[in-house]
Amino acid sequence: MRVGVIQSDPVFGERQRNVEAALSLTEGLTADLWVLPEFFATGYQFVDAAEVARHAEPIQSGPTVRDLVAFCSARACFAVAGLPEAAPDGIYNTAVLVGPDGLLASYRKIHLFALEKVFFRPGDRPFSVVRVGDARVGLMICFDHLFPESARSLALLGADLLVHPANLVLPGVGQKTMVVRALENGVYAATANRVGSEARSGKELHYTGESQVVGPRGEVLVRLSPDRPEAAAVEIDLARARDKSLTASNDKLADRRPHLYHLDPA
Ligand code: ACM
Repeated sequence: MRVGVIQSDPVFGERQRNVEAALSLTEGLTADLWVLPEFFATGYQFVDAAEVARHAEPIQSGPTVRDLVAFCSARACFAVAGLPEAAPDGIYNTAVLVGPDGLLASYRKIHLFALEKVFFRPGDRPFSVVRVGDARVGLMICFDHLFPESARSLALLGADLLVHPANLVLPGVGQKTMVVRALENGVYAATANRVGSEARSGKELHYTGESQVVGPRGEVLVRLSPDRPEAAAVEIDLARARDKSLTASNDKLADRRPHLYHLDPA
């Protein structure tokens, strides 16, 4: 299976242009599953609730999912991407997984970052794993990386591959934690981060790029530049993600001692 990451530089509010620019980065490359950044079509720095509402779309019928389905159909592939989801009960920071036949699954970001707490409802559904061909794919979004429970939940559900749309702004942080998440869970991890800057609310945010695909021993299989829009795809071996052995007598998941952990002490 080939997994690709797309590292784009969206211009705030230019949805159609941002989608086309991001998808065109894959020209000449092939992947079975492409991962795009969080909010890749809208940009990230919303300034008020009305603006969020204007840019949010229903994921069943919205234009961005429609464009992604057309891409997947033309390229015989699947894609994961982040967008603001207009749901009946509010707006979520959501990742969609789409294929040639339409929307397959979605995930609503559980750990909201900074001003997202003002503009979005926190994810209300547990982490879950979706089959794409033979692969078991676990969805998470950006700041979820800092909570080891995110990747661990997905690994315990059987994920082979973590897909991670991101808008990382703390230099090097998410890129490092995802190496550890892959290593400690024995899974592949594909982070698609954006590049460029935005200064829409008096505070300039600089996005750190270095999108990457990491293997089950924490090896960086590909890492993109810190500042250029680009894309890359690599081959992954699902059997390696299903072998959790570390030594002849250690298994990354089976050796856990959950009855002695205090994950949520009273
Ligand atoms: C982030 O969660 N967008 C940093």
